[in-house]
Amino acid sequence: MLEKISTSSIRPASADLYDWDELVQEDRVHRLIYTDPAIFEAELTNIWGAVWVYLGHDSQIPNNNDYVTTRLGLRPIILLRDSQGKIRALFNRCTHRGTTLCRLERGNAFQFVCPYHGWSFLNTGKLRAVPWPDGYACDFKDAKFNVAQVPRVDSYRGFIFGTLNPDAPPLLDYLGGITGPIDEWLDRNPGGKVVVCEANRLKYKGNWKLAYDNSGDGYHVVFSHRSLLEMENRLADEANKGMSYYKGSPDSKAMYMRYTGNGHHFKDKRPNIEKRAGGLWAVEGPAPGSEHYEAEFRRRFGAKADDILDLAGSEPVNINVFPNLSLLGNHIQVFDPISVDETNVTWFGTRVVDADGTLGDALDEINALRMRTQEQFPNFGEVDDLANFEEIQRGLACLEDEWVYMHRGLGIPGRVKTDAKGEVTAPATDEAFMREYIHEWKRLMKASPSLVVQREV
Ligand code: FES
Ligand SMILES: [Fe+2]
Repeated sequence: MLEKISTSSIRPASADLYDWDELVQEDRVHRLIYTDPAIFEAELTNIWGAVWVYLGHDSQIPNNNDYVTTRLGLRPIILLRDSQGKIRALFNRCTHRGTTLCRLERGNAFQFVCPYHGWSFLNTGKLRAVPWPDGYACDFKDAKFNVAQVPRVDSYRGFIFGTLNPDAPPLLDYLGGITGPIDEWLDRNPGGKVVVCEANRLKYKGNWKLAYDNSGDGYHVVFSHRSLLEMENRLADEANKGMSYYKGSPDSKAMYMRYTGNGHHFKDKRPNIEKRAGGLWAVEGPAPGSEHYEAEFRRRFGAKADDILDLAGSEPVNINVFPNLSLLGNHIQVFDPISVDETNVTWFGTRVVDADGTLGDALDEINALRMRTQEQFPNFGEVDDLANFEEIQRGLACLEDEWVYMHRGLGIPGRVKTDAKGEVTAPATDEAFMREYIHEWKRLMKASPSLVVQREV
C-alpha cells in the first residue's frame, strides 16, 4: 500500500520559499543556501526525499535477516534483507507512539520489538503482535499499523539506494554516465567487487553541501593538504608520492574533471599514473609498516607482486554521486546531514575478495596493507577539509557579505567543454562541476515532489 505524505501541504512549498534564480546564479551562490534552516528543512523533502539517496552496501547485509541502521536525510532507517531475501529500507519508527525500533548499528533479526511498549514487527514491516490486545477496540490488521518503508529501493552493483519519490526516474537512468567510472572502480578488483569494512566516523559543524562542493575540488589540494603532501614526500625516496600531481601546474596535466549529469561528477587522476603493473603502488603515500609488506609480497610472489600491490594502492579517482556518496581511493565516503550546520562524514574502508582463488593466503595481508592506505587520508587529509568546512560556515555568518563564488574556469574560451551527451569536462582545478551540480540542486528545489511511503498489506 502506498501512502501519500500529507504533512507537506501544511509547510510552505520549497518553490515558494525564495526566488531560487536569485540565490543560485551562473557564477555565484547566496550564503543562505548554506545557513538558512528553512532551506535545510526544504532539502529534506526536495533533495533527500526526492532523489535516489545512497543507503548502504550489499556486503553489509549479506544474509537474510541482516540489518544496518542508517538515515535518509534525517529519517532513521533500518536497511535490511528480510527473511525472504528482499532488501527493504524500513523507517526506524514504531507506529504506536513513534519511538525508534532499533538502536543498534547492525545485527541479524527476523523481528524488531519496540523497547517502549513491546509492539513487535516482522522485518517485512508487518505488525506481529501487541501486548494485552484486549485493551484495544481497533483492527490491528489495518495496514496503517505496519511500519512505513521506503517505496523504491534498488541497487547498482552492490550500492543500495532508496527514494520516496514515485516520479523519480529508474535508478539506472538517475546514475546515467556516472556508472562508467563506478564500473571501472569496481572492475579493477578480483570478481569486480569490494566488501565494506569498518568505518572512520567524522563530524563537522557545517552545511552538508560544503562537503559536496569540495568533493571534486582540485584547486585546494596543495594549499589545504600541504602538511600531508610534505610528509608523504619527506618519507619517500622520490618526491612523487600521494597527491604530488597537484604540484607545479596541475591544469597542464592529463587529469581532468567531468560532470555527467543529475548532480554526479568525477575527477580522474588515473591518466597521470604510469600504465604498468605496480604503477599505482609506485605513487602510494607511505604508511607505517608498508615496506615490510611490500618486501614480503615481492619475496613470495615475484613477478606477480606488482599486481597484488596495486590492489592495495589507492585508486586515484573521486567519483561523486549526488547527494551523498563518494568513491575515492579505496573508500566509500558518505555525507549525512544532521542540521543546517552539522554533518556526519563516514569513511568506509573496503577490502577485496579472492574471486578466482589466485590470492590464496595472501588475501588477508593484501587487505591489511590496503587498510593501512585507507587509514591515511581520513586521518591526515580529511581533517584539513573539515577544518575548511567549519571555517566557511563561520565566515558565512557575515550576513552582509552575501555571495560565494564558484566561477573558476567560467568564461575562458575552450577551457570547459560540453560534449554531445551534455557531459562537461574541464581541467582538474576548475569549479565547473560545482556550478553544474548546484544548478541541478536549484532545479530540484524549485520542484514540488509528491513523496509517498509504503506499508505492507
Ligand atoms: S512506542 Fe512502540 S510500542 Fe509504544
Ligand atoms: Fe581535500
